[in-house]
Amino acid sequence: MNAGAPEWKPNAGAASWTPGGTPSFTVATPSPAAAPAPAPEPAPAPPAHQDSTASDIDEKDPLWQVVLKIAEGDRARALKMINNPDSLTKYPEVVAILASGDGGGDAMETDDWEKEKSTDGDLAKQVDEKMKIDEKPKPKPAPKEDYDDDDDDDDDDDEEREEVDPASLQEGDPREHLNLVFIGHVDAGKSTLSGNILYLTENVDKRTIERYEKEAKERNRESWFLAFIMDTNEEERAKGKTVEVGKAHFETSDKRYTIMDAPGHKNYVPNMIMGASQADVGVLVVSARKGEFEAGFDRGGQTREHAMLAKTLGVTYLVVVVNKMDDPTVNWSKDRYDECVTTIRPYLKRCGFVIKREVKFLPISGLNGANVKDEVSESDCPWWKKCWNEGANNTTAPTLLDLFDTLQIKDRDPSAPLRIPVLERYNDRGTIAMGKVESGIVRPGMMVTLMPTGNQYKVDGVWANEDPVSGARPGENVLVKLNGAGLEDCRKGFVICSDPPCRAVDKIICKIAVTDMPDNNRILTAGFQAVFHAHCCEEECTVTKIFETTNNKGIVVKGARFASEGMQCVCMLELDRSAPVETFETMPFLGRFTLRTEGKTIAIGKITKLPPKKD
Ligand code: GTP
Ligand code: MG
Repeated sequence: MNAGAPEWKPNAGAASWTPGGTPSFTVATPSPAAAPAPAPEPAPAPPAHQDSTASDIDEKDPLWQVVLKIAEGDRARALKMINNPDSLTKYPEVVAILASGDGGGDAMETDDWEKEKSTDGDLAKQVDEKMKIDEKPKPKPAPKEDYDDDDDDDDDDDEEREEVDPASLQEGDPREHLNLVFIGHVDAGKSTLSGNILYLTENVDKRTIERYEKEAKERNRESWFLAFIMDTNEEERAKGKTVEVGKAHFETSDKRYTIMDAPGHKNYVPNMIMGASQADVGVLVVSARKGEFEAGFDRGGQTREHAMLAKTLGVTYLVVVVNKMDDPTVNWSKDRYDECVTTIRPYLKRCGFVIKREVKFLPISGLNGANVKDEVSESDCPWWKKCWNEGANNTTAPTLLDLFDTLQIKDRDPSAPLRIPVLERYNDRGTIAMGKVESGIVRPGMMVTLMPTGNQYKVDGVWANEDPVSGARPGENVLVKLNGAGLEDCRKGFVICSDPPCRAVDKIICKIAVTDMPDNNRILTAGFQAVFHAHCCEEECTVTKIFETTNNKGIVVKGARFASEGMQCVCMLELDRSAPVETFETMPFLGRFTLRTEGKTIAIGKITKLPPKKD
């Protein structure tokens, strides 16, 4: 809760709006075996298309020229990209060409082709203008060699962000950027795995590791040395438990990644929610060690809650890593691996994951690195090669890093209005907001509106991965300097928008699935209070009206007065202060939320209707 946040006024339209009798929206008839979690609608299957071959390529095709440039002149890679049109839409320069009708290859009619031909030269120039991306991938960010124990979240003492001549800026590294959140039960091995990924990708040097080994030994936590790469503060190292979401970067030749290492302890679920709300991919770490898998998957264990939250918060993929396969109680046993997979799979299906498309499974040892960057040896695990070669459990990659590289995020839209939910902000000669670009492109010099206040600011600078850039597209984690904004004008949970901005409302109609209830209050009725978590925003809320419920047999009761665990329910929520949101249908990342109370997630939901706009 933003207890210290200054009050901002709910917008008048929101405050005066009442639904008036019967709701005017319709609810899809639930299937008899209604799933508890409302899953986002499956994306339509991409249209079948004929793959281009090298001989089909027209060198003058502007689309080909752009793609070739993105692929840094690598013709084979460019051809692969052309043959996977969905992956191209994440590049604004490609979108610009397609939108202007200057590209699109085989979709053109012969007549159009004749017209295009005459302007080829111009087009090539325009394409070059539009291409403001680097010729070469940027060097890696400097490895975080030393992690300061005293480091708090205050970045004020970081080196100052110099004003940069906009003309000299590049549009950032063209490789796709993915946010990975590592989730799962306490002690499953999330921090160890995150730390080892950084080590194996050469983002931590040997000397630092040796120092952590020594420190871990002194604390009687010998095996924790890799976790110390992510667990940087005293409390985390002393107790061996992550509290804050640790962030770090690594990259492969194909993609750039941000790791968010979430805490597994149930007291820190709100921190985990903040991390997961930023993520494209959830990495659900489960321990295969005898007894640990069972404890994590039990009711009350965080394996279930984290998986459900990840789905609600909108991860595109869930990679389930069955960890600690090296443990003496497991010893790379295929039976144990299969047992973990077959136990989790039905639960993930109930959470709304489409298993075949969205979930991958992989056995690893985060501690010794087997199947992280290099494949486990055949002597340790003779059965793994056959599994991934056959694509068992949807996984056709031998290692975790290979698997990450195969994941394609499809629904990023650089041509939509800009939306950046603010995760954090700080002062560095002006207010700098931190967040992930969910849609649109943010550029220095543009005017943005901060919701829910509606105040407008000019963007003075944009940084992606600490580098100043001339534009950042969806998926990038950015810092945005807002001209004239005070710290109090820009709070966690606000949304940076271009026109038209998102809505700011203090009432919503929504469809929720009640997943759990507090022990002392098993019934949800009007008047029930909880905390509403949507993107980075947290707000106290009250259920003010229930319109209808659907039980797990699919029986709908209109005008129901209460709902209980396992039911779906259409209801109205009133928020204590107005929040920047949208309906799920318009912008899923601003329209999904969870309700929590007494340390539990009690419902997950989608916003179905907002108060009418008052112009
Ligand atoms: P929280 O942050 O508290 O949620 O825990 P975590 O999931 O980050 O677990 P962490 O990485 O701190 O590891 C917990 C313990 O499990 C440590 O003792 C690790 O050494 C051990 N561990 C982690 N991965 C492995 C593994 O692959 N094999 C074995 N044998 N032990 C592991
Ligand atoms: Mg941890």
